[in-house]
Amino acid sequence: MSLSNKSALVTGGIRGIGAAICEIFLENDLKNLAVLDLNFEDLSILKDWEKKFPQASIKFYQVDVSNHEELEKCYGDFTQSIESLDPGLDKGLEQGLDIVVNCAGIFNESKFRQVIDVNLSGVIGSTLLAIEHMRLDKGKGRGGVVVNIASIGGLNPVSFMPTYSATKSGIITFTNCVAHNRDRLGIKFLTICPSFTDTKLTSENPRNVAYFEVDEKCITEFKKSGKFQSPDELAKAFFPVLEKGKSGSVWIIEGGELIEATGPKVLY
Ligand SMILES: NC(=O)c1ccc[n+]([C@@H]2O[C@H](COP(=O)([O-])OP(=O)(O)OC[C@H]3O[C@@H](n4cnc5c(N)ncnc54)[C@H](O)[C@@H]3O)[C@@H](O)[C@H]2O)c1
Repeated sequence: MSLSNKSALVTGGIRGIGAAICEIFLENDLKNLAVLDLNFEDLSILKDWEKKFPQASIKFYQVDVSNHEELEKCYGDFTQSIESLDPGLDKGLEQGLDIVVNCAGIFNESKFRQVIDVNLSGVIGSTLLAIEHMRLDKGKGRGGVVVNIASIGGLNPVSFMPTYSATKSGIITFTNCVAHNRDRLGIKFLTICPSFTDTKLTSENPRNVAYFEVDEKCITEFKKSGKFQSPDELAKAFFPVLEKGKSGSVWIIEGGELIEATGPKVLY
């Protein structure tokens, strides 16, 4: 699938899974990329991408996804900048935001409000903004794909990650409700549930960020329960879903393998 005339916005895109997803988009000729992240201390990856992928225009926004007003400004600025790159083309037809990946997320059970704000409110807020900018039916955008990154813990909750697991189940439920009977938007909504992936998030000792009643045995069993994958393996497995995934579908990626999961049954 070539992304040569496409624009994408990725939250949490400066490292880990989000960065690997940005990179696979760029390898597939993406034209415009917005990377939204709270972390602005090490932006060297952006310089590397600019050298490696000269076809792409890359914008970085330092933003907290749980701050809806800030997020709204980023969407506004990025969509305007896409349009100004192609001033001769018809607005809303030949250019626009095509792909949004909501990947920013945290795990720290001692900061439950922040986990909910970032993992759930951040994803909901960004999805609503994506709809506003991409929907076909009101002539505002040209349709596309919204990908929300949940977790395997959203399908099979983990007892010592109660808040994290709840936010991830929440993402699956929210995404499937939004997808249900909404073909008129021209937007496909997908949920990805990664299993263990080698990133900063998993390098943290779960004991330090887990619910207080966890014991070492639990953590050892938990770590043995899934096959680790690199963010690049995950991104490679993920890329085909952009095209082949049906709206409302939920996908596990474990050990670099893509497996379709059964999401909740949405009514009405
Ligand atoms: N690593 C895993 O095993 C795993 C498994 C399942 C799901 N996930 C999910 O994948 C996503 C990416 O995680 P990762 O493993 O790459 O972690 P990571 O910590 O390496 O990357 C997360 C990125 O999100 C950014 N971020 C955090 N809070 C933010 C905020 N408020 N606003 C904007 N950006 C923010 C961070 O700065 C970082 O760049 C998360 O949603 C995580 O829950 C990860």
